[in-house]
Amino acid sequence: MGPLSVPPCTLHITWKELLLTASLLIFWNPPTMADVMIEAQPTEVSEGKDVLLLVHNLPQNPTGYIWYKGQITDIHNYITSYVIDTDTIIFGPAYSGRETVYSNASLLIQNVTQKDTGSYTIQIIKRGDSTKGVTGHFTLYRE
Ligand SMILES: *[C@@H]1O[C@H](CO)[C@@H](O)[C@H](O)[C@H]1NC(C)=O
Ligand SMILES: *[C@@H]1O[C@H](CO)[C@@H](O)[C@H](O)[C@H]1NC(C)=O
Repeated sequence: MGPLSVPPCTLHITWKELLLTASLLIFWNPPTMADVMIEAQPTEVSEGKDVLLLVHNLPQNPTGYIWYKGQITDIHNYITSYVIDTDTIIFGPAYSGRETVYSNASLLIQNVTQKDTGSYTIQIIKRGDSTKGVTGHFTLYRE
């Protein structure tokens, strides 16, 4: 007997078992979507280098993203945003000229200075107006 042969007894499924399987399928809910996460690459960056803030587990079919410096989603902290439908990048008051937002929501900050270090918040605009804000951080490496 090879390992692939199935003993005949496993094919006997009683009605009771079948009903149990069916009810498990009905009441089983898919797991809730994983939380959006920001990952700084690298997590510690030295002055003058670049850092990429990667966004993981984006919700399906968003309308756009807005990046803010710090943890407050205030107009003064508004760096840049990306509008998916029109493929447009918009710059806000906190834009320094060194930030690039990608269509996958990730933010590249080039030539990092002391002032750039700290928290960044992404606001994900979902269809139907609901937004979701997530904050990520990176620190400046001191030599
Ligand atoms: C998003 O795009 C950038 C630039 O193309 C890339 O470096 C980065 O890995 C992408 N991020 C994710 C989470 O795929
Ligand atoms: C990085 O910033 C420094 C100081 O602000 C500037 O002198 C230098 O030209 C910048 N380098 C690049 C590649 O933008």
